Amino acid sequence: MLEVRGLSFSYGDFSIEKVTFEVGRGEVVILLGPNGSGKTTMLKAIYGLLKPKEKCVFIDGKDFHGLPIRERARLAGYVPQSHTPPFPYTVLEVVVTGLASQLGPFESPRNEHYEKALEKLRLLGLEDFKDRPYTQLSGGQMQLVLIARALIQEPRVLLLDEPTAHLDFKNQVKVLGIVRKLAQEGISAIITLHDPNLASIYSDRIALVKEGKIMAIGRPHEVLREKTLRDVYGVPVCVIEFNGFRLILPRTEVIL
Ligand SMILES: Nc1ncnc2c1ncn2[C@@H]1O[C@H](COP(=O)(O)OP(=O)(O)OP(=O)(O)O)[C@@H](O)[C@H]1O
Ligand SMILES: [Mg+2]
Repeated sequence: MLEVRGLSFSYGDFSIEKVTFEVGRGEVVILLGPNGSGKTTMLKAIYGLLKPKEKCVFIDGKDFHGLPIRERARLAGYVPQSHTPPFPYTVLEVVVTGLASQLGPFESPRNEHYEKALEKLRLLGLEDFKDRPYTQLSGGQMQLVLIARALIQEPRVLLLDEPTAHLDFKNQVKVLGIVRKLAQEGISAIITLHDPNLASIYSDRIALVKEGKIMAIGRPHEVLREKTLRDVYGVPVCVIEFNGFRLILPRTEVIL
């Protein structure tokens, strides 16, 4: 469904090089890797916020970056790692801005659009916050609002940059559960996470990212191996099996 073919981008002293992978319809691929390894750069370059030199992102065979912005917004929704709105919009207004590309240039959002926004806020348990200024929310609440803003577009692919970073455990489970449910409906996702255990549980495949490259990509049990993780993170870990999932723990010598 989504194909990344030889994606390269450079900031100058940091580059991502020839990143190639595919994401199937309804597949969840999680990018896992150390701070500064290039996960955000990859997501931004895939979405087109950073401009790779060559055509390298295809959705259903079409050059994604070459499509008009409206069509791109229908295909892919992006949730940044952090975001500061320029004005103290209400929560409901922030979610409605997710529909901006679907409205005409002089068209204002109508009741049906606000209803839709409310539905997404309800899904994320935030309906009571709808009239609050977005800037007065906690970090986790802001993150949930941004997820609602991406969901309202009803895109075919979600690109989520650390969507669980500020969330409590219940909300982490909720957000990743929503992603899995959407996957069952055929929505694909590329997500960056830091928790290898959540990646193991919620992904179809994991891509391990190091120094701008994908070091390994595969099903969690193929990728989450002691040696591979030690190579990527430089920390000794042990891998255990629980209920069919592969889980990662730091080795005792790191704890003590
Ligand atoms: N706007 C920028 N200009 C120059 N260099 C940048 C810029 N943004 C990021 N970098 C550099 O690119 C590298 C990769 O950054 P990136 O944000 O993609 O990492 P990441 O894997 O998402 O890290 P984290 O897990 O901390 O979010 C880092 O070395 C960073 O310093
Ligand atoms: Mg990042």
